[in-house]
Amino acid sequence: MNDFVTLTHQGREFRLPLVTGSEGEKAIDISRLRQETGLITLDPGFANTGSCRSAITFVDGERGILRYRGIPVEQLAEHSTFKETAFLLINGALPTQKELTRFSVMLNDHSLVHEDMKIFYQSFPRSSHPMGILSAMVNALRSFYPELQNLEEEINITVTRLLSKVRTMAAMSYKISRGHTVVYPRPDLTYCANFLNMMFDSPVKPYELDPDVVKALNVFLILHADHEQNCSTAAVRVVGSARVNLYAAISAGIAALWGPLHGGANQAVIEMLTDMHRRRNLGALVDRAKDRKDPYRLMGFGHRVYKTYDPRARIMKQMAHLLLEKLKLSDPLLDIARELEEIALKDDYFVEHHLYPNVDFYSGIVLRAIGIPTNMFTVLFAIGRLPGWIAQWKESMDDPAWKLCRPRQVYSGPGEHDYVPIEER
Ligand code: ACO
Repeated sequence: MNDFVTLTHQGREFRLPLVTGSEGEKAIDISRLRQETGLITLDPGFANTGSCRSAITFVDGERGILRYRGIPVEQLAEHSTFKETAFLLINGALPTQKELTRFSVMLNDHSLVHEDMKIFYQSFPRSSHPMGILSAMVNALRSFYPELQNLEEEINITVTRLLSKVRTMAAMSYKISRGHTVVYPRPDLTYCANFLNMMFDSPVKPYELDPDVVKALNVFLILHADHEQNCSTAAVRVVGSARVNLYAAISAGIAALWGPLHGGANQAVIEMLTDMHRRRNLGALVDRAKDRKDPYRLMGFGHRVYKTYDPRARIMKQMAHLLLEKLKLSDPLLDIARELEEIALKDDYFVEHHLYPNVDFYSGIVLRAIGIPTNMFTVLFAIGRLPGWIAQWKESMDDPAWKLCRPRQVYSGPGEHDYVPIEER
């Protein structure tokens, strides 16, 4: 079997090495292409471009497979906690009991946020979107906490600090946006329970932790914990490749995640379902989504990689049902979502385009049941994706082949012409 492909250009043959991944996927190594042939590749949206080798997450979009460090996400959602999954992604293996205890202690030790940061929060206009605030505040962490050195121990502290503080900061932004007293993290609570308590506890109405809600939040965060080279992770890697500090790289990831074509879709889905519920015109909106001339799309449908049902959406759908049942809640948006899914999955357009519900389609229903306000949905996604961003950043820093990311282009502007003085234009 050949371990290269042959490219013929202007009568000359070039051999390009073939690279095989551990799951058998093949790639053409073009790293010497320009040097040897003078050619570059053109791939808008990088749909055919592998930017790195990575041992963190495996996705098979045709078969609907997602594994973190080799472990199926279904098993992690059933048996693991978000904290343990974060450890797995960042360190490469599930923790021993001793490692997990140490990790918990570190998360607790670093959970407080510098009191001066509260002043920043209070200065944002009340209508600011929490994702804009979170991105700015994570970037600001660099000014409050010492610079990352390359020592393993120090990297571990910064990573733990980030994991712990982002959760505190997210809850803090919610409390401040409502004009309520900030609730501090508690050492006796687990990662997810602590977040829920910081969000919802109040001096006049103590928050009662419900194990089903804590479990649902764990599963939500696990399902979002990594997804190989998606838009926000690519942003973290690209920005990180300039050797900027980790906080700034994560802040870039948060900004990318905010977009409605990416993580912002979870908010957009609920807005779409609410609109459908109000207007009661599902069929007409599905028709709009199929119309090429109309930019309207079904939010929560379609994925760059999955051409079958997103395995995360399957778990999220089950969880939405289960949680509503356990909490004895009914949500009309779940009925609309199911009806919409049924229509779309039978419709030729969606079938031919391989458009299935993605992770964001049912996640908003789960978050609503937990009590998370709609404009905080993408913040919850960011908390979930944090271990993935960190793991990918760490991997890129340790990768001898990882360089400054600087793509090429095919220039399509005007040819050279002379400057014209303003009075002659
Ligand atoms: N509704 C209607 N049509 C769609 C949808 C949709 N949600 N998604 C894709 N299509 C159609 C496009 O119109 C296009 O049709 P055409 O080939 O006839 O012109 C075809 O499917 C391919 O679409 P692209 O945009 O080229 O596919 P791409 O891989 O770039 O898009 C994306 C993926 C951005 C996720 C897209 O499916 C989309 O916009 N979905 C809605 C937003 C969403 O849910 N985003 C969350 C994704 S998951 C995540 O990031 C966590």
